[in-house]
Amino acid sequence: MTQDGGGDADGGDATVRTDGPDVAACERCPDLVASRSRIVNGVGPDDAELVFLGEAPGANEDAEGEPFVGRSGSVLDEALRDAGLARADVRITNCVRCRPPENRDPRSGELANCRGHLERELDAVDPELLVTLGKVPSEHLLDRSVAVTNEAGDVVDARVGDRSYRTVISVHPAATLYDGSQRETFFETIARAADIAGVGEGGGGQSSLGEF
Ligand code: URA
Repeated sequence: MTQDGGGDADGGDATVRTDGPDVAACERCPDLVASRSRIVNGVGPDDAELVFLGEAPGANEDAEGEPFVGRSGSVLDEALRDAGLARADVRITNCVRCRPPENRDPRSGELANCRGHLERELDAVDPELLVTLGKVPSEHLLDRSVAVTNEAGDVVDARVGDRSYRTVISVHPAATLYDGSQRETFFETIARAADIAGVGEGGGGQSSLGEF
């Protein structure tokens, strides 16, 4: 475990302690420190080819200490299974690691405060492909407004720190719960991402990123 005394990614904040790709302590966001019961770090292999990026933990994630374990997580698990993947095959993380009060969207300052943690995690995992789950992570990584329903399945480049990652834009799994027409979009996007990364049913271990 390291006390962060001035590394670029964590900005020299003495409240931050990291443990590999995990954040063991951080008190940068007063509202989130007050509303969280724990820091929710990413889960999954630390050398995963595919990384899914959500917005922030909700109540279930805050209680269990793991991203996407509520209803959205069940939809994600189902789409992964459909694509020939198990949850344990991929890494799942969030833009912000602490639950915002009343499940509000994370604020821009909170996203910025947590950005270094994400940079460090992605740098360590070095995935073949990222998948942004919903508007907040898509706009956070691409630094532009994103119409996720229209752009779902698109492969773009996202700059995180000093690296660029091939990224598939996706609707959030929760969107399928409010609007049944988004289900097909979501499932197709996840299958496409598995295929592009060369994991899952169709991949045969061979990434097809060169085609994009
Ligand atoms: N929604 C997210 O964006 N992240 C989670 O971890 C759970 C729900």
